[in-house]
Amino acid sequence: MSPERGPLAGRRIVVGVTGSIAAYKAVLLVRRLMERGATVDVALTRSAAAFVTPLTFASLTHRPVVSDVLDLDAEQQIAHIELAEAADAVVVAPATANVLAELAIGMASSSVTAIACASRAPVVVAPAMDAGMWTNPATQRNVATLREFGYLLVEPEVGSLASGLTGIGRLAEPGTIADTVERLFERAGDLEGLRVVVSAGGTREPIDPVRFIGNRSSGKMGTAIAEAARDRGATVTLIAGAMSVNPPPGVSVVNATTAQAMRQAVMREAPGADILVMAAAVADFAPKQASGRKIKRDGAELQVELVPNPDIIAEVAEMPTDIRPFLIGFAAESQDLEANAIGKLRDKGLDLIVGNVVGGPFDAIGSDENKVTVFGSEGALTDWPMLPKRQIAERLWDLIADRYRSARGPDGAQKEKAGRRPRAGSAGSRR
Ligand code: CTP
Repeated sequence: MSPERGPLAGRRIVVGVTGSIAAYKAVLLVRRLMERGATVDVALTRSAAAFVTPLTFASLTHRPVVSDVLDLDAEQQIAHIELAEAADAVVVAPATANVLAELAIGMASSSVTAIACASRAPVVVAPAMDAGMWTNPATQRNVATLREFGYLLVEPEVGSLASGLTGIGRLAEPGTIADTVERLFERAGDLEGLRVVVSAGGTREPIDPVRFIGNRSSGKMGTAIAEAARDRGATVTLIAGAMSVNPPPGVSVVNATTAQAMRQAVMREAPGADILVMAAAVADFAPKQASGRKIKRDGAELQVELVPNPDIIAEVAEMPTDIRPFLIGFAAESQDLEANAIGKLRDKGLDLIVGNVVGGPFDAIGSDENKVTVFGSEGALTDWPMLPKRQIAERLWDLIADRYRSARGPDGAQKEKAGRRPRAGSAGSRR
């Protein structure tokens, strides 16, 4: 599978390397994960850095390496906490007997154990040590504890050890560890059989043949959502407004650059679709009458009368239950994000709404990253940090797929009546 399409595409993996001679294999592990499309950050303990230097990993990943628990990142944030929050998975490889013990009792004295301790993402642990240490009852008890915590263990292998002896304790091969990490995200086919419609970009409401009222939407978020749905097996239609990015291959594209055109396209594509994600920034108003000829400057004031555009997603919400798709809207708010987003979700009759704050120091419009919160009718469902848009798309689909299935059942049959009544689904999970 190509790196752009596999389960690790767009995932952010933190590899924590601890002090074992097997630390050199972590270099290969990082490469394997990157080859499969993951963005990899590396944290090293002090003793790991004695085996392989931070520079090796920084050169490979082109990203800063965290080697001290007191390190700050470029934004002066505590690096290990930032990484712990942003990670989709943490992989401790190689994990020494000492690190297994630290993890089992919740110690966080190194950057690696601090990340594993602070992260809510799944943790994969690949031990490497002498056979005697591995079979020691204390180590085995620690391993059992970690399993109880839900950590995923990649068993060490039998082979020649650094001591010159042969026995169990060799770090699993980098490919085997990468396979285990990949299996965490094997939701590759979880949208198989579903028809998904995504709108993206902004609309442009013509004033005359050359001028329009528009907005700065780039279409990056909607495009990432369409792409991620395609990679999970959905049949995807992208309704593209004005965008600064190309639509992804492998999805059907319908161009619709005005609110009226977008309404028509959505009304044609949405009935019978399983899921509609309205990521487009639809202009709320359009000039009442677009001039057929270019308006000339004559020194006088120009009045452009604006009329409201139809609320497209609210119209879809009114569709009869059997053809109404599961509905996800977006809300960009400059204040009171939660109240405004949930208000829109209720008023428009949506199932989920993705909110983000605009107008602050960070400008998400056109950026490759954003910080979003997903809301259901019961409140906030996520607490995600700033993430690349493709990673947001993956997390969104994890959540949407779960909610869609709990609302409609595994076969897509509607369990509840849709319409203006928002549904309650299962609790949102982090992935
Ligand atoms: N939307 C829509 N049709 C419109 C306007 C918005 O379908 N005419 C959709 C957007 O694609 C988005 C959601 O509704 O998914 C919320 O958009 P937003 O512009 O924030 O909502 P508005 O109702 O226009 O609220 P506001 O007054 O804050 O602009």
